[in-house]
Amino acid sequence: MNPRFHFQFFSSPCVVIWNTERMDDDRWTEVDEYVAELLSLDDAALSSALTDSDSAGLPHIAVSTTQGKMLELLARMSGSRRILEIGTLGGYSAISLARALPGDGRLVTLELSDKHAGVARANLERAGLGDLVDVRVGPAAESLRSLAAAHEEPFDFIFIDANKNQYPEYLELSLDLSRPGTVIVADNVVRDGEVANAASTDENVRAVRDFLELTARDPRVSATVIQTVGTKGYDGFALLIVQ
Ligand SMILES: C[S@@+](CC[C@H](N)C(=O)[O-])C[C@H]1O[C@@H](n2cnc3c(N)ncnc32)[C@H](O)[C@@H]1O
Repeated sequence: MNPRFHFQFFSSPCVVIWNTERMDDDRWTEVDEYVAELLSLDDAALSSALTDSDSAGLPHIAVSTTQGKMLELLARMSGSRRILEIGTLGGYSAISLARALPGDGRLVTLELSDKHAGVARANLERAGLGDLVDVRVGPAAESLRSLAAAHEEPFDFIFIDANKNQYPEYLELSLDLSRPGTVIVADNVVRDGEVANAASTDENVRAVRDFLELTARDPRVSATVIQTVGTKGYDGFALLIVQ
């Protein structure tokens, strides 16, 4: 029997089939909404960023409200003054990350799409964070190489959240822009649990597995993966520290 389905027999001759996966999804969303409301995680700048991203036709793939706050807290916990983000979209996670910065801090966020970058800049400006954030347009791997070639000061915190098929390359390039103590967070590495499927032929699953295998072999980092559920379904983050 598929363990995701429960069959309930009543005294009447009807059979009710509950899809427990659906029920779990509903509960995950309810908890995210409860936490976001209880802790006042949403505000005008964040919700307008989503509304304007939506109006501009951007896909609904930003981190959730609770995840955005987690990023802000991780960046604050690590005392980050220089943050790098790979994958800007409409600037939702960039707002969360930039909020962790001191007044003289800097967030560099990399985005392929000119349109996404434009929406992000407007959202960051409205959030009062425009002066702290540099949104750079182009393929992230090229932007990362340019940053390294310009001998940029190492970043304290790096958030990887762009196209999954280049995650292994993004890891290598991120390490070139790191120092001992740099925190690296990579989103979407669990992929509905498929990350544990060595036989997967999905390009993105294979790429996150390569990313994690590189992480495992690299003596420069110490890492774990945390599975997550919530409004965005079942996925997870890789957390790394450069040592
Ligand atoms: C998951 S979204 C980022 C979400 C964002 N971090 C947030 O939570 O608000 C991924 C973004 O990466 C961008 N992207 C895809 N391929 C890219 C590439 N090669 N270089 C830079 N950005 C890329 C996409 O255009 C998209 O905006």
